[in-house]
This record gives sequence, C-alpha cells and structure tokens, in this order.
Amino acid sequence: MSAESAIGRVAVVSGAGSGIGRAVAVALATDGVHVGCLDRDADAAAATAALLPDATPLVADVRDAAAVAGAVDALAAATGRVDVAVACAGIEIHGTTHELDLEVFQRIQDVNVAGSLHLARAAARHMAAGGDGGRIVLIGSVNSQVALAGQVSYATSKGAVLMLGRALAVDLAPDAITVNVVGPGVTDTPMSAASLADRERSQRLLDRIPLGRAADPAEIAAAVAFLASPAASYVTGAYLPVDGGWLAHG
Ligand SMILES: NC(=O)c1ccc[n+]([C@@H]2O[C@H](COP(=O)([O-])OP(=O)(O)OC[C@H]3O[C@@H](n4cnc5c(N)ncnc54)[C@H](O)[C@@H]3O)[C@@H](O)[C@H]2O)c1
Repeated sequence: MSAESAIGRVAVVSGAGSGIGRAVAVALATDGVHVGCLDRDADAAAATAALLPDATPLVADVRDAAAVAGAVDALAAATGRVDVAVACAGIEIHGTTHELDLEVFQRIQDVNVAGSLHLARAAARHMAAGGDGGRIVLIGSVNSQVALAGQVSYATSKGAVLMLGRALAVDLAPDAITVNVVGPGVTDTPMSAASLADRERSQRLLDRIPLGRAADPAEIAAAVAFLASPAASYVTGAYLPVDGGWLAHG
C-alpha cells in the first residue's frame, strides 16, 4: 500500500498515552490508519491502543535512540511498513534564567528536541526503504516563536523543534518524505492542567488568545491528521500554528 493511499497506512505516534498524542492517535485511527502508540508509560500507551480499532502499544523513552528505533522496527516488522510519524512526546518545566536547573534544561532538550529527532529518524529509515515516501509531523508550540517569562528551557526546545522540522524537510525531500511542524497554543491536557487551574495564570494566557479559550486536543489532532494525510503531499517544511490566533495577536 502506498503512502498516497488512505487505506492500509501505518503510523507511529510518540506521547500517545496522553493529551495531544492520544488525540492524534484517535484522529489517525478514524482515518483508517494503524497506529503504533508509543509512550514511556506502558499503561498509558496500552490504554490509548485499547481505544482504537487497529493499534499496537509501544513502550520507549524517546531520549533513548536505540529504544525508539527498536519500537519502530517492531511496528514495521508487525505491519510491513511505516508511513507516518508524529512526535508528540514532550515535557514543560518552568524556571527563570537565574533559577533554572541546568540538569532540567538538558532534560527538556533531550525529550523535546532529541526525542523528536530519534522518532523521525527511526521512522524515516523505514519510509525511505519502503520507497513510497512518508509524512512526519513534529509538535512545536506558540513557544517555537514567542517566549513567556520562566520558559527559557521550554521555549529554547520548541524553537529548536521548529528548525529541526525545517532541516529534516530539506534532508528527507529526496525520499518524498514531508516534514511539518504544528504549533499548538494553550491546549487542555494534563500538561496545561496546573496553568489552567490557576485562575490568575489562566486569565493571563486566555487574554492572549483572540478565540478566548484553550484548544481541545482534538483540534490540534485535526491539523496533524491533515499534514499526515495523502492530501498534504506538497506541504513540507511548514509551520502551522493552531493557537486560536495567539501569534496573529502578538
Ligand atoms: N498542552 C499544551 O497547552 C501544549 C501547548 C503547546 C505545545 N504542546 C506540546 O504538545 C506535546 C504534547 O503535550 P500534551 O499537552 O499532550 O502533554 P501530556 O503531558 O498530556 O502528554 C505528554 C505524553 O508524552 C509522554 N512522554 C513524556 N516524556 C516522554 C519520554 N521521555 N518518552 C516517551 N514519552 C514521553 C508522557 O508519558 C505523556 O503520555 C508536547 O510536545 C507539548 O510541549 C502542548
């Protein structure tokens, strides 16, 4: 089955155990895609896979390149192909310039940046070998473009994810593999629960959003599903904000 076919495609989604990754897994499955649900949390990966008609739970820490490659190889061995990879695994830990812990800074780069590379590279190897091209989607953030106070580590990582997506798009184009970055704004997931529960912080965030509300994870997943679909065959190296107008507002 080719990457241009809507039936029989196979995807691997990291961070599939929660939030945006789980919603992406659901959206891709709705499009008829077999989804490898990868997470470091085995129970969470299994719980997402159990929601889907056709899925494989996969356990790996995205910081571990060999573990990610092993999981993607196992998916390819079981299904015969890999057409789509979506890197949703990510962490956000706040810390101002003067207070941030350098070990935490490095951990955030390792998960958000290196973890995205590990998944993309492991999947791209199978896409290139299959000869039918592929789709890779990375998850950036509004913080790929703008920073809030206390976000030195996170905004640095998300800026790097944006450039990683562009660099991969250029590198993988000869194999007909497209690579794009989706930039969510505030999205209602466990990651943002503490911020959204804090009335003052929540109001400060919502004041920046012309649509005046947080996104549902399914609204981010819909944009990812488009970029992962055959319809997006000529879109590569793009950054698609899905942020309720945050970046337009400035
Ligand atoms: N929620 C938001 O408001 C928001 C906004 C912009 C961008 N994002 C980005 O979207 C992505 C998903 O975030 P979310 O809100 O769904 O978060 P979440 O915390 O709900 O889910 C993240 C998932 O990633 C997994 N994960 C974390 N570290 C991992 C690792 N080292 N290896 C494998 N799996 C790991 C977790 O177990 C979890 O299942 C992240 O990259 C995040 O930065 C989120």
